[in-house]
Amino acid sequence: MMIQTVSVIGAGTMGNGIAHVFAQNGFTVNLIDVSKPQLDKAITVITKNLDRQLSKASITEEIKAATLKNIIPMTSIAGVHGSQLVVEAATENVDLKLSIFKQIDEAAPQGCILASNTSSISITKIAAVTKRPESVIGMHFMNPVPVMKLVEIINGYATTKEVSDTIVELSKKLGKVPCVVNDYPGFIANRILMPMINEAIYSLYENVAGVEAIDTVMKLGMAHPMGPLQLADFIGLDVCYSILNVLHDGFGNPKYSPCPLLVNMVTAGKLGCKSGEGFYSYSAGSKELVVSGRFK
Ligand SMILES: NC(=O)c1ccc[n+]([C@@H]2O[C@H](COP(=O)([O-])OP(=O)(O)OC[C@H]3O[C@@H](n4cnc5c(N)ncnc54)[C@H](O)[C@@H]3O)[C@@H](O)[C@H]2O)c1
Repeated sequence: MMIQTVSVIGAGTMGNGIAHVFAQNGFTVNLIDVSKPQLDKAITVITKNLDRQLSKASITEEIKAATLKNIIPMTSIAGVHGSQLVVEAATENVDLKLSIFKQIDEAAPQGCILASNTSSISITKIAAVTKRPESVIGMHFMNPVPVMKLVEIINGYATTKEVSDTIVELSKKLGKVPCVVNDYPGFIANRILMPMINEAIYSLYENVAGVEAIDTVMKLGMAHPMGPLQLADFIGLDVCYSILNVLHDGFGNPKYSPCPLLVNMVTAGKLGCKSGEGFYSYSAGSKELVVSGRFK
């Protein structure tokens, strides 16, 4: 099946990046969000990101104009009716996603593939609320979407090989590198990443080393571009907490239980970059990495 029109549900951090990448590669994109201000913000962010690409000469003025022209913002899910692919990137909440998938299953044409960008919710569970579980798949982009090369493709229990192969080829057309995995808790990316982050937090909690030492060991010793504590701040400590709970519940193995320090920080509202404080402190306009006063 030829995919030409793609609907992206949710115009937040990931949705605007996904819309940007599809539109830049010539696809028509219906960008759908319940919030009109969020749609306006998404177009502003996409324009700013295209300007950055322009200043680095990685795109031309014509590509910028064509990309913006390819994106049609809308507030109703009914907008998916002419699409061959829907990529859902709404808020990470099981009930919300199940409700969205029921609606898009009703509104999308027969043959349309329904994908979710979820970080941790079971694709099989999402597929089960639709009448086309064979056409439901995970398309897990990484943040920031225009920069990060990986797309983790998650086959649900019923996903057909044809649908999986179509999404692999499509990801390549977007200039991405697809990796196909099966639908078990955390898939691959978060199943491996989150225990590492949790172990870094345990190391701090047990006073094995301080924030800077832990991150420097992993940066310089393992050639990671960012230490695990800084990465946790970037992802959001609430998000790390909820993904660890998915792993813990899904496997029933205590090795995934979130570190009590992480639980305390989330409860106290210290969520990392987005709240201004996590393992580091963040102030607007400053790029300097400053360890939070709590851990000095
Ligand atoms: N942020 C990341 O680093 C990251 C990375 C990979 C995957 N993800 C996944 O991507 C998805 C989106 O995450 P995000 O960080 O972009 O969230 P976000 O909070 O930035 O954006 C979510 C958007 O969904 C919209 N929304 C909520 N309900 C809706 C509905 N019924 N219909 C349409 N839009 C609706 C909200 O208005 C908001 O604009 C989640 O499933 C998350 O797990 C996030």
